[in-house]
Amino acid sequence: MLKNAQTPLLHIADVSGSALFQGDCFDIMPLIPDKSVQLIILDPPYFEVKGDFDFVFESETQYLEFIESVIIESKRALKQDGSLFLYCSQEMGAYIDLMLRKYFAIKNRLIWYRSGGVSPRKKFKVSHEPLFYCVNDIDNHTWNLDDIRVKSIYADKDKRLNPLGKSPDDVWYIPNLVGRKSEKVDHPTQKPLEICDRIIKCSTNENDIVLIPFAGSGSELVKSKELNRKFIGIEKEPKYYEIACQRCGF
Ligand SMILES: C[S@@+](CC[C@H](N)C(=O)[O-])C[C@H]1O[C@@H](n2cnc3c(N)ncnc32)[C@H](O)[C@@H]1O
Repeated sequence: MLKNAQTPLLHIADVSGSALFQGDCFDIMPLIPDKSVQLIILDPPYFEVKGDFDFVFESETQYLEFIESVIIESKRALKQDGSLFLYCSQEMGAYIDLMLRKYFAIKNRLIWYRSGGVSPRKKFKVSHEPLFYCVNDIDNHTWNLDDIRVKSIYADKDKRLNPLGKSPDDVWYIPNLVGRKSEKVDHPTQKPLEICDRIIKCSTNENDIVLIPFAGSGSELVKSKELNRKFIGIEKEPKYYEIACQRCGF
């Protein structure tokens, strides 16, 4: 799956060829051949995140340069009929929207309505995150609607509606993991498996390669494996790499 690396890389792979690397995605992504992956899920560190993370960017400009570098590398590695999903904070959304348009066709500006979190006293509670859905080719890309249909509330009454359901709305209500102990591991921005499920099902088929440059706790890897997709995961922090390895059964 990778071009020849000059230096040995710390990674672990399974029999299907999926692999998880511990390291910096800017070192490892260049080893991925051009136009070789079907789906890229970018869940980068957020500009605002502090605390558990050391990723303190000096300025918005520096942060946006970081994001653009990974977008450029993603563009190179993505197949012509491939897709890219990118999470970001509300504050950065407008800048990243303009940036993505230079490289991809933006198919949807999704809202992950996750609720949860702390209620501030002097403003409305922040309860959603932008999630960009982009493709290389707006007329030719993998789109498996039948795998993600949701039932319309009118389906029983209106016989004209498809009994298999309709395309999901662009606002996805998927609760975050607060209080969901069976799924939660020790990672501050772990994504629910439910959101990974929809992303991977709609944009890939079995045996396709999914690239996750910011693997974190491994939610996207776990779901790729469950759905019989191959994955390349990269995580910089040893602690989270270990968690992701465990969750993937490595
Ligand atoms: C928002 S979290 C991803 C969470 C993940 N989607 C999950 O469900 O657990 C971003 C992750 O990227 C990692 N990271 C930050 N910079 C990185 C880099 N340059 N290369 C690889 N991983 C990086 C962080 O350690 C963090 O775990």
